[in-house]
Amino acid sequence: MDGNGRWAKKRSLPRAFGHKQGVKTIKNIVRAASSLGIKVLTLYAFSTENWKRPQSEIKILFSLLRQFIKKELKDLSSLGVKLRILGDLSKFPETVRIEVENARKTTSQNTGLELNIALNYGARQELIHAFKEMSKHGIKKPTEEIVSSFLYTAGQSDPDLLIRTSGEFRISNFLLWQIAYSEIYVTGKLWPDFTQRDLEIAISEFQKRERRFGGL
Ligand code: IPE
Ligand code: MG
Repeated sequence: MDGNGRWAKKRSLPRAFGHKQGVKTIKNIVRAASSLGIKVLTLYAFSTENWKRPQSEIKILFSLLRQFIKKELKDLSSLGVKLRILGDLSKFPETVRIEVENARKTTSQNTGLELNIALNYGARQELIHAFKEMSKHGIKKPTEEIVSSFLYTAGQSDPDLLIRTSGEFRISNFLLWQIAYSEIYVTGKLWPDFTQRDLEIAISEFQKRERRFGGL
């Protein structure tokens, strides 16, 4: 979800306005994904690198996240959304952790869209975490399946499509293991401007791709 800051800058508004507008996009896209029958949607909300931002912006992001979960939980749950957090939550303020943990529990039996929110997430950190866990479990001969089962996305299939907004051609430490064969779609749209229609365009673009997974 990239481009919140630029969205605000274009309007001569403080960055916080871009983040607020970005939350509206989250609501729309989660609903759209759910109604389109998408099985898993992962939103990259806060990376391990985002701690480098000014404390004031980090505070705004946390507070928006808490508000989003608190306000939307009922609606999301009634859509059948099941929430999972990818990342290390231990560094987050307790208020955020409690809200997130509550939402996770409340939605744990839901069978609709699996909504992953990547928070304090970095793919390299995820892999190191997985390797440490594997070592704790005495695993000496890891296979692809075993490694996958120790990632935050355990049990979910790898993403078919990776959408990057705001025109950046970078992966930015996102799901490095899981996106080995994902189709990448870059749109110039800033995240706050991204709509259900844009999601549908990305999906129809994806449907035109020929996927060979290394074969012929
Ligand atoms: C993405 O928008 C939002 C988060 C990282 C939470 P940015 O804040 O990165 O927006 P730009 O890149 O400055 O436009
Ligand atoms: Mg950015």
